[in-house]
Amino acid sequence: MKETRICVIGLGYVGLPLARLFSTKYPTVGFDMNQRRVDALMSGHDSTLEVGDNLLKDAIDNHGFKCTADIEEIRDCNFYIVAVPTPVDADNNPDLRPLYGASTTVGKVISKGDVVVYESTVYPGVTEDECIPVVESVSGLKLNVDFYAGYSPERINPGDKLHTVEHIKKVTSGSTPEIGEYVNEVYASVIEAGTHLAPSIKVAEAAKVIENSQRDINIAFVNELSKIFNKMGIDTLDVLEAAGTKWNFLPFRPGLVGGHCIGVDPYYLAQCAKRYGYNPEIILAGRRMNDGMGEHVALQTIKLMLKKGIQVLGSEILILGFTFKENCPDVRNTKVIDIYRTLAEYNLKITVYDPWANPAIVEREYGIPVVNEVPANKFDALIAAVAHKEFQGLDIRNLLKDKHVVFDVKGTLDRSLIEGRL
Ligand SMILES: NC(=O)c1ccc[n+]([C@@H]2O[C@H](COP(=O)([O-])OP(=O)(O)OC[C@H]3O[C@@H](n4cnc5c(N)ncnc54)[C@H](O)[C@@H]3O)[C@@H](O)[C@H]2O)c1
Repeated sequence: MKETRICVIGLGYVGLPLARLFSTKYPTVGFDMNQRRVDALMSGHDSTLEVGDNLLKDAIDNHGFKCTADIEEIRDCNFYIVAVPTPVDADNNPDLRPLYGASTTVGKVISKGDVVVYESTVYPGVTEDECIPVVESVSGLKLNVDFYAGYSPERINPGDKLHTVEHIKKVTSGSTPEIGEYVNEVYASVIEAGTHLAPSIKVAEAAKVIENSQRDINIAFVNELSKIFNKMGIDTLDVLEAAGTKWNFLPFRPGLVGGHCIGVDPYYLAQCAKRYGYNPEIILAGRRMNDGMGEHVALQTIKLMLKKGIQVLGSEILILGFTFKENCPDVRNTKVIDIYRTLAEYNLKITVYDPWANPAIVEREYGIPVVNEVPANKFDALIAAVAHKEFQGLDIRNLLKDKHVVFDVKGTLDRSLIEGRL
């Protein structure tokens, strides 16, 4: 078989770590439509912090890894991997435009015998029914006659330095049994945790979308418990700890579900189900529950302030953390914005302190200020929204007025410091 020459299209949280890894074994080019992202990567820095500067420089200097926005530079590749975003639109319907764009790019460069593998999270059928027709019409080539396809969902967890791409078992699949074997072999050669060859592309697509939907539903269940026990004056985390002593009780905790995976992918599955005439109940109920948690946190905090006799109008409130999860700069689809906007309706003076979030990006995407340094003033209330490691040593009391309220979203603060938590 000819030498495998890889091109990864879309160099974000998923594509870059994968391209870097492949570059240690195969000639690899990374392609992104964003020239600024390409320039930053070629200068040796990844702003998502998923690939350390040393590893990136090593890939560029010692393995010939190259990033480009020039389509001519990927024409010579024969194994294309697509890792572009799969967001939802304002009505929570799947937005496949980045996938169509990437498929058009592939269609312009793909040659006879080549393979295109999709990694973006989708609902079953998107690869074969939506993406491949674009590749076919742009290239004039035919699937399984002239070129081949595969799907291998990404499971990386941004900010997690333990479960990096090579340490997570990877599901693979192909448009024919032989291509499935080939795709599996290519991934198995770099993924230390091993691979699982699924029987079809649709099975691999479905497997990924249900992983995230399952997590969303489980978190929704404990969020609902949190609302019930809160009304009863029972601490939810105490209940979960006690229940967790049973061998098959699942260890989920209440919280905000943000980001562009768990909070988005269930909508892909729901949309797909509706097309087949099935109206999903549990999946969408989970979404509704989790999407309302930011507002719930804000309202609980205001209730606690009123109970303590703190004047809400014009009071000063500090939100710790803005990113969608801890120890990661990603602010996409963060639910902390729901806390902020609900509080803003009550005319509070809100300060958001997050050492990880880029203030310029937050301003551009959400129109609100974020500070990277510990604020000097004293606050009437504090909401610990994200459990960044920097907050562990923070002297919370020093940030607060004598009469105050602390609400702990993640349940990581010392109990003696807080008035409420989920
Ligand atoms: N980030 C995660 O934790 C994670 C985990 C598992 C799966 N996924 C899935 O992986 C996919 C990619 O997610 P991500 O977080 O890496 O996205 P991202 O936004 O970090 O990166 C996507 C990159 O693709 C580029 N891009 C967009 N359209 C393009 C096009 N037509 N041609 C070339 N480049 C293009 C963008 O410029 C950007 O640099 C999504 O489907 C997501 O659901 C993400």
